[in-house]
Amino acid sequence: MTLTPSAAETAATTSTPPLRLKGIHKNFGGVVAIKTFDLEVRAGEIVALVGDNGAGKSTLVKIISGLYQPSDGEIWLNGEQVHFRDASDARAKGVEVVYQDLALVEDQPVYMNMFLGRELTKGPLRTLDRKGMAKQTQELVDTLDVRIPSAKATLSDLSGGQRQGIAICRATHWASSLVLMDEPTAALGVAETAKVEEVILKLKARGAAVLIVSHNMDQVFRIADRVSVLRRGTQVATRNLADTSHNEVVAMITGLAS
Ligand SMILES: Nc1ncnc2c1ncn2[C@@H]1O[C@H](COP(=O)(O)OP(=O)(O)O)[C@@H](O)[C@H]1O
Ligand SMILES: [Mg+2]
Repeated sequence: MTLTPSAAETAATTSTPPLRLKGIHKNFGGVVAIKTFDLEVRAGEIVALVGDNGAGKSTLVKIISGLYQPSDGEIWLNGEQVHFRDASDARAKGVEVVYQDLALVEDQPVYMNMFLGRELTKGPLRTLDRKGMAKQTQELVDTLDVRIPSAKATLSDLSGGQRQGIAICRATHWASSLVLMDEPTAALGVAETAKVEEVILKLKARGAAVLIVSHNMDQVFRIADRVSVLRRGTQVATRNLADTSHNEVVAMITGLAS
């Protein structure tokens, strides 16, 4: 009998995180937006990125999603170093972003929004495969339990929470490595935020790696596993939420002892 570990066991013990950032630095001319930033986001983990306005959170999200190039440092996806040329390059490598402003098309059906820019076609004339897109969309909204009347409903007929649910479904559908969220519930009410948080937790349960920027400290403690704090471009600390408190995180954000 051999004691060679199974492929699954090997993968589990040596599993590489979907995202690893090493020494990320970003300056805009003379303005240092991020001094140096290190982080790993593992599969099935939600990491919150917090900090005051201007701390560098969105800059970091833009770097990981290919919109900005880092001035220095390394980005590793699933154990491989990447250099994104632009946002579509990052998307092609499995990185998807959900923003506060939804980046959805109001007068189109839900399924077209799900496949925006990546529409399914059929036949020699490459006509839109509306049926195929609607079917896949319905499966996905069912899986993530986003309740909408139909995948064929026009987006403008949905509530803000339902729309953000669709944006998250879309990111989930196309992300193979990582889902980034920059203030995904900032424009939503309490009940809608709760629904969107449920969807984010479903995403985690499916093994996604999620990095979420949030101003809402209660939300951070409700859904995240770890938190990383930026203060004016400096990474103050990264903590397990089980090992810190609301007051401590706020003190790290503001730089004032609580
Ligand atoms: N394109 C840019 N050009 C110049 N400065 C920028 C640019 N984007 C962000 N910054 C600066 O970087 C810093 C961090 O901004 P940002 O990442 O948007 O902060 P946050 O999302 O935490 O509020 C700010 O000082 C901001 O003015
Ligand atoms: Mg921001």
